[in-house]
Amino acid sequence: MAIIRAIKGVKDIPPSHIPKWSVAEGAAHRLAQSYGFKEIRIPIFEQTELYVRSIGGATDIVEKEMYTFPDRDGSLLTLRPEGTAGVVRAFIEHGFANDPTCKKLYYIGPMFRHERPQAGRFRQFHQFGVEMIGTTSPQADNEVISLLWRFFSSLQLPGLTLEINSLGEPSDRQGYKENLVLFLKAKLDEFCGNCRRRIDSNPLRVLDCKVPQCRTATEEAPKLIDFLGPSSKDHFDQVLAGLDTLSIPYTLNSRLVRGLDYYSMTTFEVSCSSLGAQNAIGAGGRYDGLFQALGGKATPAVGFAVGLERVLLALPESIIPDPKPWIFVAGFGQQGSQAGFALLDSLRSHGMIADTDHNASSLKAHLRSADRLSAPYVVILGDDEVSQDQVILRNMLTKQQETIPLSQASSRLKDRLLSPSVP
Ligand code: HAM
Repeated sequence: MAIIRAIKGVKDIPPSHIPKWSVAEGAAHRLAQSYGFKEIRIPIFEQTELYVRSIGGATDIVEKEMYTFPDRDGSLLTLRPEGTAGVVRAFIEHGFANDPTCKKLYYIGPMFRHERPQAGRFRQFHQFGVEMIGTTSPQADNEVISLLWRFFSSLQLPGLTLEINSLGEPSDRQGYKENLVLFLKAKLDEFCGNCRRRIDSNPLRVLDCKVPQCRTATEEAPKLIDFLGPSSKDHFDQVLAGLDTLSIPYTLNSRLVRGLDYYSMTTFEVSCSSLGAQNAIGAGGRYDGLFQALGGKATPAVGFAVGLERVLLALPESIIPDPKPWIFVAGFGQQGSQAGFALLDSLRSHGMIADTDHNASSLKAHLRSADRLSAPYVVILGDDEVSQDQVILRNMLTKQQETIPLSQASSRLKDRLLSPSVP
């Protein structure tokens, strides 16, 4: 029978990759909590309208990347393409505004976008994201960027660049858009089909197009930064000054308009030079208008999301901790195998990691198995050892063996293996 394969762009995470995931997820939990963020778990699928209203109808995500399907009653559902919309929906729905512990939220989990799979771009990928809700303070922008930067630096990712821009308030953007559209229309023939279509529906996105001819055509385009009103400008200046205070290096990038329509004011993106074309490892910004667009009260907010697969691609091997010491129990023979099974249980109840091979019935087969599993220690327990009330502890690296009384095996091994300096 033909085997069934996983969907294109949707990856299994095999056990050998888990240590890297644990390092990245562990750092995410630790750092987010150290900044006062609380974890939230939001649904993996929501009503389609949530994403259309938040991300915007004229974006790549909504136009062509969402996994949307009808529920049994015909209503449209979508697998979450990102986390911000769901967090804001939950915040409004549960009245988190009245709960001071729910203003700084973080999440880790899978997202789904029907993009063309390539290195670092998947159809199911994982994000670590944070959302800081309820403050317009530029220090909130700084705090969020600082957490993002510290997350990457704590993981020793090489060649990081932070790019930053301000999209201003909607009123600033209105004046800018009019100027930009005039500029773009005068060069209509120079743009790709996608950009030509977007000039009216989402002109800012034209600045972000990766097609070389479109980039050349927009080199002299008016810059949003020149259209910021006094309060947007002041906010942006304070964010930049805050980054200087925190010694976080940045580059201004007037093309950084982001692929989601909910942004206003500060936007930012971090890229990593060791990755290829998909080098954006984390991005975010302010979205002060999103709560109202989703039927809530006007509420300012700022956040980011990190692409964990990309982080893992750039993660240095040296950061992966050595596996914890564990014990392989080689019980063989009639009494040996029974005593070995009891010892296995006792080791586990003493907090140790212990395993065996139920298919091995001789010492040779056990040792072969222990070797294949790279077991650092083997406890040997045959009928002879049982009759002498002892076990043999074998260090698989040095091949040294020593004898321990069976009745004290668990406590002695615990003292040895769980102590900071394991022999
Ligand atoms: P985003 O820029 O769409 O922003 O995604 C954030 C990060 O997710 C990207 O920088 C990238 O690392 C990763 N990513 C996106 N698409 C893929 C993919 N197909 N495969 C692998 N990784 C991917 C957001 O999602 C916003 N919700 C961020 C945010 C939070 N803004 C405010 N709060």
